[in-house]
Amino acid sequence: MTTTADQSLWLTALPARPRPPLTGEHTFDVAVVGGGITGLTTALLLKRRGLDVIVLEAARVASGVSGNNTAKVTALQSTVYSQIRRTHGLAAATDYAGASLAAVARVAELVRSEDIDCDLRRAPAVTFAYTEEEVRDVDHELIAARQVGLPVRSGTAELDLPFEVHAAVRLDDQIALHPVKYLQGLANAVDGDGSRVCEDSRVLDVKGTRLSTRDGVVNASQVVIATHYPTLDRGLYFPRLELTRAYCIAARVANPAQALAISTGSPSWSISAHGDQLILAGQSHPTGKTVVEPFRRLEDFAREHWQVEEVTHRWSAQDPTAYDHLPMIGSYTPGSDTLFTATGYMKWGLTSGTFAASLLADLVTGKPNDLADRFSPHRVSLKSLPELVKKNAEVAAQMVGDRIAPADATSSEDLPPGQAHVIRDGLGKTGVYRDAEGKLHGVSLRCTHLGCLVRFNAAEHSWDCPCHGSRFDVDGAVLEGPATKPLPRKKPR
Ligand SMILES: Cc1cc2nc3c(=O)[nH]c(=O)nc-3n(C[C@H](O)[C@H](O)[C@H](O)COP(=O)(O)OP(=O)(O)OC[C@H]3O[C@@H](n4cnc5c(N)ncnc54)[C@H](O)[C@@H]3O)c2cc1C
Ligand code: FES
Repeated sequence: MTTTADQSLWLTALPARPRPPLTGEHTFDVAVVGGGITGLTTALLLKRRGLDVIVLEAARVASGVSGNNTAKVTALQSTVYSQIRRTHGLAAATDYAGASLAAVARVAELVRSEDIDCDLRRAPAVTFAYTEEEVRDVDHELIAARQVGLPVRSGTAELDLPFEVHAAVRLDDQIALHPVKYLQGLANAVDGDGSRVCEDSRVLDVKGTRLSTRDGVVNASQVVIATHYPTLDRGLYFPRLELTRAYCIAARVANPAQALAISTGSPSWSISAHGDQLILAGQSHPTGKTVVEPFRRLEDFAREHWQVEEVTHRWSAQDPTAYDHLPMIGSYTPGSDTLFTATGYMKWGLTSGTFAASLLADLVTGKPNDLADRFSPHRVSLKSLPELVKKNAEVAAQMVGDRIAPADATSSEDLPPGQAHVIRDGLGKTGVYRDAEGKLHGVSLRCTHLGCLVRFNAAEHSWDCPCHGSRFDVDGAVLEGPATKPLPRKKPR
C-alpha cells in the first residue's frame, strides 16, 4: 500500500540544505521581505538595474503559497475579465490583460536568460463549463477576453478532458512549470555580486527602513514587503482583503489532461498535469469556514474521470482577494517612497506576482509606470464600497456572535482522537484537540490579531480565524498571518 504525502508535489524539490540566515548588521540598497514569486522576481529585476538587494525569507525560498499551488502561469484566469470589467470597466480589464500577457512572457524570458531548469512547457489555458448552467459565464468570459485583446478561441474541440464540456474559451501558448524549481532558479540568480538571499530569517521588526531578524539587522534605503499578506501593522489591509482556502491533490493517472483548465461553477475544478501526474484543485472557501472532506471530494472527482493508480500528494493553501477584485501593488502607506508591497492575487499570483514585480521595480527606482494608479493599494473603488461595508459588518457580527455561542462540551474526557471541541472557560473559551496518540492540546480561541474566535479546521487540524484568515496549529503557533503572535496555550480539561 502507498501513502499519500501531506505536502505539495512541488516542495519535494526543495534543496536539502537551506541558505544561511542573516547574521550581523548589513547595508543594502533594497531589502525584500519574503522569498515567494513576488519577492524573488522583484529582487532580480532590481539587481538587473544595478542595485544591491537582500531577500529575507522567514522559512525556505518557495515554501509559501508560491510552492503550494497548481503551477499555471496564464493570462486566461477563469472569469477574471468579466469580473474586472463589471467592477472597474473595460479599461481596467484591458490593463490587467496586458500586464498578465507581459508577465507570461517575462517568466519565459527569465527561465531562458537565467537558464532555469523548471520543466517549463507550453499549453493552452482553458476556462470551461462543466455543467449547462456554467455556459453563460463562459460565454461572458469569451466576450470580455476578446474585448481586452486576448487572442482567445471558443469551442470544445481538441480539449483533452475526459468528460463532456459544455462550452470553453481557450488561450494558447501559456505556461506550466515546476514553481519550486523556478523560484530556486530565481534565488540563485539574485544571490551573489553584492546581493543576497537568506533563509530562516523572519523579519521581526521594521522601523523606518531598518529591519531586524533573530540574528541580524539590515539597513536599507527602500523596503519591499512581499510576505503574501502584508503583515506590518499599518496601511489597514486586513479590512480590504479576504482570504480563500483551496485544496489540491496530485494523482498518478494513465492520461492526465495537458491543458491548464478551470471550470467556472461552484465547486470549481482546476485541472493540470505534471509528467504522468494529474493535478486537481478546488473546494474553495473563505478561511475559517470549513468544507466537509475536501480531499475526499477531489479524489472522488479524479476517480470518476480518470483511471487513478495512486494519489501521491495532497496540500492546501490560501490567497487573498481585494474587496474590489484587483491586485494591490504599490506604496505600503499613501505617499511612501521607501516602503512598498503587493498582494491580492485572487489565486493567480504566479502571473500577477510577476507583473507586480515589474511595477514594484519601477516604483522603487522612480521610473514612471502607467499601471501605478490602476493597482495602487490606496485606490478607492466606489462600486465595491457596499461589498466592503457588508464584509466588515459580517466580521463585526462574528466578533459578537461567537462570544455568546454555546460551548460544545464541559469536559474532554470523551473527545475521540483526531477531533476537537470547544469548552467554556470562565468568560473565555478553550479549544481542545486530541491527537492520534491521545494527548490533549488546549489553546485560547481568541485570535491574537483582533480578537475573533478561531474555529477548528477538521481537514487540516488547525484553528482558523473567520475574520481575516489567520491560522494556528493545535498548540497555537501561527501558521499564516495577519496574526503574528501565537494563541496562548491553555490546560485542557
Ligand atoms: C490552491 C491554490 C492554487 C493556486 N494556483 C495558482 C496557479 O495555478 N497559478 C497562479 O498564477 N497562481 C496560483 N495560486 C496563487 C499563487 O500561488 C499566489 O498568489 C502566489 O504564489 C503568491 O506569491 P507571494 O510571493 O505573494 O507569496 P508567497 O509565495 O507566500 O511568499 C511570501 C513569503 O514571505 C515569507 N514571509 C512571511 N512573513 C515573513 C516575515 N515576517 N519575514 C520574512 N519572510 C516572511 C513567507 O515565508 C513566504 O515564503 C494558487 C493559490 C492557491 C491557494
Ligand atoms: S485574523 Fe483578524 S481577528 Fe483573526
